Formats: sequence, structure tokens, C-alpha cells
Amino acid sequence: MPPETATARRRRREEAKRCGPRPTTPPDVGACEQRGICAPATFPSLQVPIFITGTDTGVGKTVLTALLLARWRGRGWDVRAIKPFATGVPTDARLLYRLQAGLVPLKRLCPFRFREPLAPLVAARREGRSVELREAVAAIQSAWRADQPLLVEGCGGLLTPLGPGYSLRELLLAMEGRAVVVAPNRLGVLNQVRLVLEAIDTIRIPTVAVVLMGARQPPPSAPSNVRTLQELAAPVPVFELPWLGPRADTPERIRRLAERQRARLDRLTLRLLPVPPKKGAHSTIPAK
Ligand SMILES: Nc1ncnc2c1ncn2[C@@H]1O[C@H](COP(=O)(O)OP(=O)(O)OP(=O)(O)O)[C@@H](O)[C@H]1O
Ligand SMILES: [Mg+2]
Repeated sequence: MPPETATARRRRREEAKRCGPRPTTPPDVGACEQRGICAPATFPSLQVPIFITGTDTGVGKTVLTALLLARWRGRGWDVRAIKPFATGVPTDARLLYRLQAGLVPLKRLCPFRFREPLAPLVAARREGRSVELREAVAAIQSAWRADQPLLVEGCGGLLTPLGPGYSLRELLLAMEGRAVVVAPNRLGVLNQVRLVLEAIDTIRIPTVAVVLMGARQPPPSAPSNVRTLQELAAPVPVFELPWLGPRADTPERIRRLAERQRARLDRLTLRLLPVPPKKGAHSTIPAK
């Protein structure tokens, strides 16, 4: 298990005061949440960064991040979304940039970009570079205002190596974030989601939702996948988004889809943001 940071220790002590001590052996997050009293509502005045991770690359993390961003901004919330690591062509970072009307400069939105479409640790090495965990944490903090929601899209899957000795899991722990796990609703997803949930449980960070993405041609297992996962992942709730058509990748289309899917997105939002953010002017983040 990765070492616990000072912030994580402080938060755990504060949480223990409210929720009672957590058991020492993982998995314990579910048990704590089942009592209905711990995170994500532990610090109601703060918005905790929400990490959109997944079972793999290409599973729908950007689609979900973009839909939430469009829906939340449409509700007048000054929410931001970043994609700290990207390799290959950074199309998803560009989409998030455009959905935020350029308020977050690309360098802040996606500070660690590497040319080759490889895991970030590997792509960085091939350019003679390396991003330490503390640099990644600092980059996320610089894009975050604690009273406003921040969506952080991961790169690849939960354990894809981002830098020396860490993946999104360790970043999640260092930032004391909350995890959303995205997975395609296909044969094999029960195993993949359960592996990711177990990996997150080892750091005692709550997974706040699993989101299953619909396929153009749903496999026979699709309906039972949802029901079975609801049973197996409990108390983590499982949400579904349908197949949204072949071009869910432009800002205009994402805004339209967010409007069409607003009922589903709003149900997910209740889970992600138990304390709705204040409405207000959308602020710009300076370039550096
Ligand atoms: N529900 C959906 N409906 C329609 N298309 C979808 C859906 N989910 C994902 N896709 C499509 O699948 C492809 C991969 O999705 P997306 O880019 O969101 O994955 P990702 O997990 O962000 O990938 P990466 O690891 O590259 O960041 C995209 O072409 C996207 O438009
Ligand atoms: Mg993406």
C-alpha cells in the first residue's frame, strides 16, 4: 500500500472523530459509507476533487467528464475540468478546454503532455523527462479552488503508470480525492470493475460511483451486468449512460447530449456533489 500523506492522516483522524475509526484492513470504505455518515459529505464546505478514472483507456472517461462539465456549467456552476496527463494527440484536453470557453489555459488544463501514445511514465522517459508525484499534485492544486468542483480526468486506467512510483491511485490518495470508475458495459466488465474497486479500497479513498457506458451494439450481457454490479459493488452505486451516437466528441454535440441526458446526469450529480456549489461568475485561471 502506498505511504499515507500528512493531509491524508489529518483527514482520516477528523473523519474518525465523526464516523468512528476505520477498520485497519481494507476494504473498509464501503462499510464506512454504509453507515451513511462519512465522505463525501465529511467536509461540506469544501468541494473535493473528483477523479474520473476507469478500467482501461478508451472506455468513456472523456465523454463522462465532458457531459458533467457541460451540465454543471449549464447550471451556472463555476466548475473546472482538467486532464493533467495526456499522451499522443490530446483531443480530450482540447474538448475540455473548449467546453470551458478557454477559462483554463491549456497549459494548466493539461500540463504533462507527451508525444507518443504510450503510458505517461514511458512516453515521458522517451523524451528524457519525468514527472514527480509532488509536481502532479501541485499542478492539480493550481487549477483548483476548494469551494468549487474540480473534475480530474485520468489517463488510461487506474494503475497506468504516470510517473516514477505512482499511478492515478497514488495521486487520488495524495489529493484526498473521490473516485468515479468508468467502464464499458460489455462482457468481462464485472471482473474489470471489481478489480478497480478493490485497488481503490486499498488506499481507503471512497469510490463515489461506477458509470457503465453503453455500446453501439449492446452485448447480451449488458442488462444483467448492470443488475449484478449493483449487487456486487454495493454500497457504491452503479449508473448507466446509453450509447450516445458516433460523434460524442465536439463541444456543441456534448452540450446537446448533456441536455438530453440531464435526468441521468443530475442523479449522478447528487452523488458526486452532495453539497451543490454556489452559482457565480465563471473565473479565469491565469496562465502561470
Ligand atoms: N456512451 C457513449 N456513447 C457514444 N460514444 C462513446 C460513449 N462512450 C465513449 N464513447 C466513444 O468511445 C471513444 C472513447 O471514449 P473516451 O475518449 O471518452 O475514452 P477515454 O476513457 O477518455 O479514453 P482515453 O484513455 O484515451 O482518455 C470515443 O470515440 C467516444 O466518443
Ligand atoms: Mg480521455
